[in-house]
Amino acid sequence: MVTSPPLSRLLDRTADAVAAVRAGRSLTDALAAVDDELRPGVLALSSDVMRRLGTAQALRETLAPRAPPPAVEALLLSALALLLPREGEAPYADHTLVDQAVDAARQRAPASAGFVNAVLRRFLRERASLVEAVCHQGVAAFNHPLWWIERVRHDWPTSWRELLAADNQAPPMVLRVNARRGSAAEYVQRLLAIGRAAQVVGPQAVWLVSPCPVSQLPGFAEGDVSVQDVSAQRAAPLLLAAGLAPTARVLDACAAPGGKTAHLLELADVDVTALDVDAVRLQRVQQGLQRLRLHAHIVCADARAVASWWDGRPFDAVLLDAPCSASGVVRRHPDVRWLRRAQDVASLVRVQAELLEALWPTVASGGVLLYVTCSIFRAEGEQQIDAFLQRRGAHGAQRDASAPGHLLPLPDNGSQAPAPVAGDGFFYALIRKPAP
Ligand SMILES: C[S@@+](CC[C@H](N)C(=O)[O-])C[C@H]1O[C@@H](n2cnc3c(N)ncnc32)[C@H](O)[C@@H]1O
Repeated sequence: MVTSPPLSRLLDRTADAVAAVRAGRSLTDALAAVDDELRPGVLALSSDVMRRLGTAQALRETLAPRAPPPAVEALLLSALALLLPREGEAPYADHTLVDQAVDAARQRAPASAGFVNAVLRRFLRERASLVEAVCHQGVAAFNHPLWWIERVRHDWPTSWRELLAADNQAPPMVLRVNARRGSAAEYVQRLLAIGRAAQVVGPQAVWLVSPCPVSQLPGFAEGDVSVQDVSAQRAAPLLLAAGLAPTARVLDACAAPGGKTAHLLELADVDVTALDVDAVRLQRVQQGLQRLRLHAHIVCADARAVASWWDGRPFDAVLLDAPCSASGVVRRHPDVRWLRRAQDVASLVRVQAELLEALWPTVASGGVLLYVTCSIFRAEGEQQIDAFLQRRGAHGAQRDASAPGHLLPLPDNGSQAPAPVAGDGFFYALIRKPAP
């Protein structure tokens, strides 16, 4: 019989993960240290807490104006976040959650149990008025840092509220069916046959209505299918539609963990070099390609140091899926907003510009560069590309109208997917190097 772990243990580990993020570590890093048996539960709870952390923090400051020690504060923030009113059914009854949080407090810091109990029970008694008092604006209302709220409001003056709200939703699970091994419609039938509701939402994209571990997906180990958001599935078709010959040489300049590399190779017999600066992440490219039975030349290098890795033969196409703020994928990485600092965006913009400049000479005349970020910040999308095109001049580089520019993670973002499957926020610009 499989027994689920006690909630107090899950809350204890969730509080550790929340404390780690508040100290600047990513949730992925923090969860790596959690026992396998607890990890799925802690991931679900800590993701939920990340989406409500601004409100929970404001409530803690109201209920206990003097901050308790960090380990106790992280537990209190976790419990407060999980006790907040929500759409739909709460995962735990209020009193169960409070009792279990007090048990967790006894394990973490025995002397704090009475304090945690008193704060949480007062919160339950006065929940509606306390929430109303803190939630009128700012970090507590939108659950993002102030600088982030201001940036989104500045960049998207008519949809900033929807964008911030979308970040606090659970993301849809979307699959990419390996075009070499079947169609999206066929894969939906395979899922339906095992009782999993699913729907075609793009040329190779299937929305799995209830997410599940990949080990439960038919043919996953054999390479029939991968997990990839519907907006991320735009990259490979956009590049291939730019008129590449079947034998074209393609550089995927920031390739890891390899989703877009694999998609390209599933669709065409092109010759792909998958480059990334991070050797550990590159291993995931190799493993993914092995599972899918595909091949690319794998190179570990800083793409900006072109002389260190390029043999001088131009590429017909370069995919630059540049490092960015990840502001378009906050649904999937709910800790990102709390980890980034305002000044990080400026340094990322600088690196993106350096990558564009360094890689442009590697593009063949008549060839293309597809610039991609999973960001909704204009500085990392439209403004970055405008500046690049200005530096090149009209004769040096031309923007192709086939790429969509900014895709927002909202239902009408042109991803062909139905409303619950709005794709992630991305930016796509295709730039052609004129033939002489
Ligand atoms: C957005 S991710 C790429 C995602 C990947 N294209 C995919 O679809 O799975 C950005 C990648 O850029 C890599 N990177 C960052 N700076 C780099 C540089 N200077 N040269 C090469 N790769 C770099 C990071 O290690 C990271 O793997």
